[in-house]
Amino acid sequence: MKFRLIILKNLYIKCLINGKVMKFFIGNWKMFGIPSSIKIIERINNFVQKDKKNSKKYKVIISPPHTLLESFSKNFRNKKISICAQNCFHKDNFGAHTGSVSPFMISRLGTKYIIIGHSENRSAGENDKIIEEKVFSALKNKLNIIFCIGENKTEKKRKRTLNVLHNQIKKVLKKNYDFKKILIAYEPIWSIGSGKLPSDKELSKIIFSIKKFLKINFNKRHNFKVLYGGSVDSKSVQLFKQIKELDGFLIGGASKSSKKFIDIIKNFYK
Ligand code: PGA
Repeated sequence: MKFRLIILKNLYIKCLINGKVMKFFIGNWKMFGIPSSIKIIERINNFVQKDKKNSKKYKVIISPPHTLLESFSKNFRNKKISICAQNCFHKDNFGAHTGSVSPFMISRLGTKYIIIGHSENRSAGENDKIIEEKVFSALKNKLNIIFCIGENKTEKKRKRTLNVLHNQIKKVLKKNYDFKKILIAYEPIWSIGSGKLPSDKELSKIIFSIKKFLKINFNKRHNFKVLYGGSVDSKSVQLFKQIKELDGFLIGGASKSSKKFIDIIKNFYK
């Protein structure tokens, strides 16, 4: 066990030395945004373009609602920022599923990323089986996936966090998947929108455990990317920047303001 931990740490350091470590700042707008909200992303894009010192070290992805995906994806096609969808239907390209949108339809808009498994969707009835089908279908349509996992308050209290996370991963991912197309977002449910945060020690341990689990069970050679989400703002991001295992952030509330989002990136590299 100890030997495995050392190998993982060395692998990570090797990647750092090779300069391959890229951080992700992903905004999840949830049910927010109208066509004029494009200004928010334009301001963020301008900042990234001017941020010559650090912009090669990170990638910004913004996830507006489905109504804005086509125009925003077109607008930012050749820009620094990528556009991401929020969720999708779990089967078929087209079908009798009123109000639903498939990964096939999303990928035809030029959208490159999709959030799947968010706890808000899980609490609205999505189970692991449905999430598994969504991930399968999204990969088939060449989308990059932000796969969300996270424990609730009771599970944390009962010290079941790692068990819950490992189970959520095991039930959805398959060994033959292209893991370059999958980012894992660890989002403790008790932290989303609550201002409550895990300690840096706690978070570091969890991220490390997720990566170890992924390597052992899915692909020993792949350098898995794991992000954190839950009450990330310009202040909390400073607490987490020491955690080298962390590959970035999934940001809800603070991503609806260009200033707050830009401040997160600024403070991360300060
Ligand atoms: P929050 O949301 O940053 O508002 O806590 C994060 C998320 O739900 O992805």
